Order: sequence, then structure tokens, then C-alpha cells
Amino acid sequence: MENVASYNPKTLLELRNQFPNLNIKVNGYPLIYLDNGATAQKPKSVIDTIDEYYKTYNSNVHRGVHFLSQKATDRLESVRKRTQAYINAENEEEIIFTKGTTDGINLVAFSYAERFLQEGDEIILTRMEHHSNIVPWQMACERKGAKIRLWEMEEDGSLDLEKLERLISSKTRLLAICHISNALGTINPIKEIVESILKPNGIHILVDGAQAVPHTRVNVQDLAADFYVFSSHKIFGPTGVGVLYGKKDLLNELPPYQGGGDMIKDVSFEGTTYNELPHKFEAGTPNIAGIIGLGAAIDFMNSWDWELIHQHEDDLLSYATDQLKEIQGAKIYGEAKQKASILSFNIADIHPYDIGSILDQLGIAVRTGHHCTQPIMEYYKIPGTVRASFAAYNNKEDVDRFFEALHKSIKMLS
Ligand SMILES: Cc1ncc(COP(=O)(O)O)c(C=O)c1O
Repeated sequence: MENVASYNPKTLLELRNQFPNLNIKVNGYPLIYLDNGATAQKPKSVIDTIDEYYKTYNSNVHRGVHFLSQKATDRLESVRKRTQAYINAENEEEIIFTKGTTDGINLVAFSYAERFLQEGDEIILTRMEHHSNIVPWQMACERKGAKIRLWEMEEDGSLDLEKLERLISSKTRLLAICHISNALGTINPIKEIVESILKPNGIHILVDGAQAVPHTRVNVQDLAADFYVFSSHKIFGPTGVGVLYGKKDLLNELPPYQGGGDMIKDVSFEGTTYNELPHKFEAGTPNIAGIIGLGAAIDFMNSWDWELIHQHEDDLLSYATDQLKEIQGAKIYGEAKQKASILSFNIADIHPYDIGSILDQLGIAVRTGHHCTQPIMEYYKIPGTVRASFAAYNNKEDVDRFFEALHKSIKMLS
């Protein structure tokens, strides 16, 4: 088996060659996978690492004295350490394993509301949030009699910081905001928001990093984020697992989200005492294979030359954007100055679903619809968009094939 930690892709082609699923055919055409915003393909090292767990040391963690259990526990806990290092968290206990971004936000929304939200308090959300960063807060606010205030976005999909300043009051407790918008590609200036507005006013922040971790080297201490959440499957790891980072002092103040095994110190019918961090928030058998697979994904991304990846993804985005602008009737949604490699668009009044279906017939995978961001669609008064989202393994030939197919589909639908 390949030693995943020592794998070091020197070139982008070498990187691409690590993904077996990029070599398949769909409807008789070589697959062009541009649905990375929804989920990324998995490199061999991740697939092999999961396979190795099930084949050679499958066991439950944290509660066995036997060899297999100790090996599984060591491997799982080493992922916590590697994740801490990867996002530069100060303490290992600040890394909580979850089922994914949605689960992490639900955990924070529930526990934060229990500890900090009172009737009349306010939570600020931007219009560009994924439903996963809206609904849990609506539920929490409903329970506590708190209110949601909307930070409206600008036409180009950016945010005006002065609007945030006007929204905050003595009742504001927390801002929940995406680092990168999944539907528009906007990169939000988290550090500036925290330093210039939130910190001076004692307001907490939860950052939804689902789309940021695949495209940037996130440093939670530099961002000064209170909570930062992301999913493994968008960073080339398995589904069903994710990470919640939280500042230790804050996490210590929050009550548990779910009860069960592993999150307790002692249980009796007279009362239960809870475990220390991070286990206080990890009730039940975790997704062991998933967490170990996430570790392999983190090792994989750790081996990247991030400057090269940034340059490459920026090049792909401008290469695709320039071609899209040549098409009559093309309208791009999300043209903020700071933007990740996500291209959302419509062509005249052709329904995005129709374009997506024809592209699929030609072997191109894109996403169509509202991308779980209905408030954005409401803002632009559209049913949805076609979204091509590029990952590090995509290249200019993928973009060319995509446009060839897009031109064909427009011809068929016009
Ligand atoms: C910005 C953003 N937030 C949250 C999510 C939800 O992630 P998951 O379904 O992995 O929990 C997504 C998924 O597309 C996303 O793009």
C-alpha cells in the first residue's frame, strides 16, 4: 500500500492521475467532472486508507484494550492532531468530528442557543448562506424567541461591510456566514469582518467553510473565527464526516448537543456528568472509517503546492469566464472581485435543468438548480442556475470540452 503521508504530487497531471473516477466514461464520453462544489472525487490514497481499515483493523474505538481497538483509536486520534495542524487550531480538543458541515452547524446552533440566546437576541445571516446555515438558526431562534437579521448582498454577489455595521446592536449575539458562497463563488473577508466589526462589539462568528477548505489554506487562528465548520467529502475525503472547530473556552461553555456513549464521564439515575472536550460533543460510535479517510484527504492536500493550486484554479476560472462572456444571452451570477473557481450562470431564458441534462448526455457533470440557496435565487428572480465548479484536478481541456458541449446544447434548445 502506498504510504499516503509521503505522496507528493509534483505536477497537476500527477495530481489528477490520483483520481480513478476521473477516467470513466459517461454516456460514451470521457467524464468531465465539474460538480466539485457538490462533492469532490476521491484520490487513491483515501480509497486505499478506508479499504485498509475495513480489511485489516476494523474495530470500535475508545473502549477496547485489544490490539485492533487500540490501533483504530490511535489512527482516529491522529487525524484529530493532523486536522488541528492543518487548520492551525491552537488545541487538539478544539477539533470535533461531526457528520459534516450541516451537522456541525446544527450542533453549534443548538448548543449556542441553549447557552447564549435569550428572547429578543439577534443572529445575523447573509443572503448567500446555504440552507444548512439558515434553517438550524431559524430553529434555534424559534425555540429561544430570538430574531434573525438579514445582511443583504450586493448585485455582484459581494457583501458591503457598512451594511453589517448598520445591522448590529446590543442585541446581536452571532454572525453565521459562509467563507465562500457555493452558488456565487464569492470569497468573504472573514478576518476583516471579525477584526473591524465583530470583535470590538463582542459578537461571535460561525464560519461555514464547506466551500473554502477545498480552495484555500484555512488558518482558523489567523481568521480569529470562533467556530469554523467543513465537510470531508468536499475536500477529497469520504462522505458522512466533517469537522467543527471551536475556540476551547467557548466550546467548554456550551452544553452537549446529543447524549449517548463516549460523551459521558459517569452515568447514574441520579444524574450524569459529561466528558471533557472534544468527546463531550461526540456521542456514539463515530464514523471511524470516514475519519481515518478524512486524515488521508488532509495528508493529500497537505502535500500540495498551494500557490500552484491557487494560480491554477484562478486561471481555470478566468479561462471559463472569458468563454462564457462570449456567448450571447449568458448571464453570470456572482462577479465579486474575490472569487473562487465556481461559475454560476444562465443562458437567456433556457431553463438550467435543460442545459444540465444535455450536458450530461455529452459526459459533462455540472449542477443545476437552486444549490440549496433559495434566497439567492429569490434575489435574482430566477429558478436556478447552471453551476460549473472547478477543482485542482480540472484542466483547460475540461473547460474546452465543457464549452463545446454547452454550445451544442444551446443550439439544440434555442
Ligand atoms: C456553503 C455550504 N454550506 C453547507 C453545505 C452543506 O454541506 P454538507 O451537505 O456536507 O453538510 C454545503 C454543501 O454543498 C455548502 O456548499
